Amino acid sequence: MSSSTARVGQIAGHLNYPKGMLAGQVAIITGSGQGIGAEAARLFANEGAKVVVADVDGEKAQSVVDGITKNGGSAIAVAGDVLDDQYIATLIKKAAEFGNGKIHIIVNNAGYTWDGVIHKMTDKQWHTIVDLHATAPFKIIRAAAPYFRVKDGEPRNIINISSTSGLHGNAGQINYALAKAGVTGITKTIAKEWGPQFGVRANTVAFGHILTRLTAAKEAGAFVTTPDGEKVALGIPQAQKAGAGAAEQHADIPLRRPGTATEAASAVLAVASPLMSYVNGQTISVTGGRNI
Ligand SMILES: NC(=O)c1ccc[n+]([C@@H]2O[C@H](COP(=O)([O-])OP(=O)(O)OC[C@H]3O[C@@H](n4cnc5c(N)ncnc54)[C@H](O)[C@@H]3O)[C@@H](O)[C@H]2O)c1
Repeated sequence: MSSSTARVGQIAGHLNYPKGMLAGQVAIITGSGQGIGAEAARLFANEGAKVVVADVDGEKAQSVVDGITKNGGSAIAVAGDVLDDQYIATLIKKAAEFGNGKIHIIVNNAGYTWDGVIHKMTDKQWHTIVDLHATAPFKIIRAAAPYFRVKDGEPRNIINISSTSGLHGNAGQINYALAKAGVTGITKTIAKEWGPQFGVRANTVAFGHILTRLTAAKEAGAFVTTPDGEKVALGIPQAQKAGAGAAEQHADIPLRRPGTATEAASAVLAVASPLMSYVNGQTISVTGGRNI
């Protein structure tokens, strides 16, 4: 457990939530086999949530679950690809079984980038990224509707992960920019449809530069495989950064540094927690101040 994880738990435990701020709530976090999603899974479990670790990488998902259960938390892994409709049905079914018929939180976080300049972007790149970051979250939310359109007095919460690329655009990411802009509209629509009768909260959390494999050196060789077997290299080419010092590299960030996955995930926890029970339909930027 990181020291910041411990601190959040202590603060919560000291106040009105002795079993954690999310005690007993069932949370699906997609893309929680590593990176920001894995940190969110640990933080949520530490606050008493029963976490469904959903990731296309089954081994990594299981290792996150093992870490959580070793620390006394509660989690299951449901491995699969959010681009697969059958997987989405299985994910919701298993989450509801795990939660004895209830699901309280969905964090739509799974994803990767597949960049290209506008004039070279293929239809396949376009559709894969739009499906991954916008259509899959919609289908997951639609499949989970029976567990959110309920009146049992318990909190319900949907958090969609966006990016500064969606809020402000980013050269080389026209596909990702569309999808990440799109989830802000999805979020606000959920807030308006499911808020009045069912009290469901929905918010978007948009990250800036967070240290994960998506922002590591492309030369490190991380890649994902599309459903039809194409390899997509992840990361940012080092040539883009060559010659710049640390401060110059982050000149557009007032804090002059990237964020950690723990910092990013802590913001997701904050939004899911009762401390934000009246924050609804918002896009919360977690960027170190970039783009202000
Ligand atoms: N890292 C950043 O700087 C940054 C900035 C803005 C937004 N984001 C967004 O944050 C989210 C998390 O990114 P991260 O940086 O932690 O990346 P990451 O690569 O560390 O983790 C993403 C996880 O999602 C999983 N995943 C990818 N495609 C999947 C699929 N089709 N089905 C199921 N699981 C899948 C991966 O296996 C991986 O475990 C993404 O939506 C990303 O676009 C990240």
